[in-house]
Formats: sequence, C-alpha cells, structure tokens
Amino acid sequence: MKILVINGSPKKEASDTMKITRAFLEGMNDVSGQDVKKIHVIDKDIQYCKGCFTCMHNGGTCVYNDDMKEILSDILESNLLLFSYPLYSYGMPAPLKALIDRLLPLTSMTMRSDGERYEHVEQQDLSHLCYIMICGCGFPNSKKNFEPAVLAFKNAFSEDSTIITMPENPMFGAPAADIVTKPRLELVREAGRQFAQSGKIEKDLLDEICSPMIPEEEYVRIVNSSAK
Ligand SMILES: Cc1cc2nc3c(=O)[nH]c(=O)nc-3n(C[C@H](O)[C@H](O)[C@H](O)COP(=O)(O)O)c2cc1C
Repeated sequence: MKILVINGSPKKEASDTMKITRAFLEGMNDVSGQDVKKIHVIDKDIQYCKGCFTCMHNGGTCVYNDDMKEILSDILESNLLLFSYPLYSYGMPAPLKALIDRLLPLTSMTMRSDGERYEHVEQQDLSHLCYIMICGCGFPNSKKNFEPAVLAFKNAFSEDSTIITMPENPMFGAPAADIVTKPRLELVREAGRQFAQSGKIEKDLLDEICSPMIPEEEYVRIVNSSAK
C-alpha cells in the first residue's frame, strides 16, 4: 500500500504522537511491506490559502507555487493518508491547518448534499484513498476535548476514516511510564496489523487503545507535581 504520513507535530520525529504512528506502521509492515513516505509539515513551505477560489474553477491549479504542488501530487499517488498530529486548541496545529486549507484544488465549486450536510464535489479522482487520523493530547481524558477535531477530520475527509485518539499522550515521552506505554504500543501495533489485513480495527481494540493508560486523577497529580 502506498502510504503518505503527514506529521503535523512541530516536534517532527520527537513527536510523542509519532511513536503511536510508528507502532501502527510497524504493525502494517508485519503483514506486508508498505511503501511509506513521510512529510513533516513544519519543514514545508506552505502559504496560507488566500481564498481566491481560482483553483476551484480552473481544474485545480493554485495561484501559489510552493511545496503544496508536490504534496498534492503525493496525495493523488497514495492509497492511504495517515495524519499524525497533537491536539492543539481542540483542533490541529496551525501549519497542518494551512496544509488542509490548501487541499481546495482537489474539489470544485459544485456542491452536493449527502442528506445531512453539503460538501464540494471532487475535481480529482480520490476514490482510491482512505484516511487515518492519529491524534494525541495532553489532557487525561477524551471527553469535551477531541470531539471538534474528530468531527472536522470526518467532514474534511470521510465519515469512514479510522481515528485513534490518545489521551495522556506525553507519557510516551517519559521513560518512567514505559510500564504502561509499551503495552499500549503493542496494542497499536496489533491495530496496524488488523488495518493492513481488513482496512479496519476491531471496535474493542480501538476502544482500549483510546482509553487512558492510568487513572486520570493519578495522571493529573503527576503532571501538577512536576509543573511547579
Ligand atoms: C499550543 C498547544 C495547544 C494545545 N492544546 C491542547 C488541547 O486543546 N487539548 C489537550 O488535551 N492538549 C493540548 N495540548 C497538549 C498537546 O496535545 C500534547 O502535549 C501532545 O502530547 C503533544 O504531542 P506531540 O509530542 O506529538 O507534539 C496543546 C499543546 C500546545 C503546545
């Protein structure tokens, strides 16, 4: 499978979320060799969309000539887009948001309804693509935190997207937490194997992966004691 990993963490390979993403990719590779290309968004020259809509009327050419040209062509050559990013202000880090806005050339101005909401009709064939979001956050639980980002991702890409949300994510960067993070990464690796085999992750496994690794009160106590 041709996989494009779009890493939205400004920490690049040091990203704690990328530890989850690497475990997932290792699981996919356990099943069969994958063709993976990785982009660290922070390294790319991506102008902000200026809202001229030129690309939606001219078949998909943006007025800017920057790194989005290559990224768009990488997207069209991939089968799987894997977005890996930390939750920032209940959404995505700004450089990644700039990239997502610049996906506008993929769609035309024509609108259609899916019964519940409207979306733009593609002006490129995107039917070969599936989507994964792997998102880590700093708070201890997943309630009233990840929801806006999950909804935005599904609206932007697909209701069928595979979504892993990881609370207590900074624990992946703390060696003292290995006792809980290592088994969690094993579960993620198993999820990668399942995804490579069936394009899905079993609900029970996904729920376990997205659950807190230690009780939230304990996590908050540890964070607060080191914050002073
Ligand atoms: C600017 C900024 C905004 C953040 N906003 C949130 C947030 O809304 N909710 C949350 O739980 N964590 C938030 N965090 C914490 C990060 O999601 C957390 O540190 C994450 O583990 C970083 O992952 P990374 O190592 O992959 O970059 C924020 C961090 C920063 C720097």
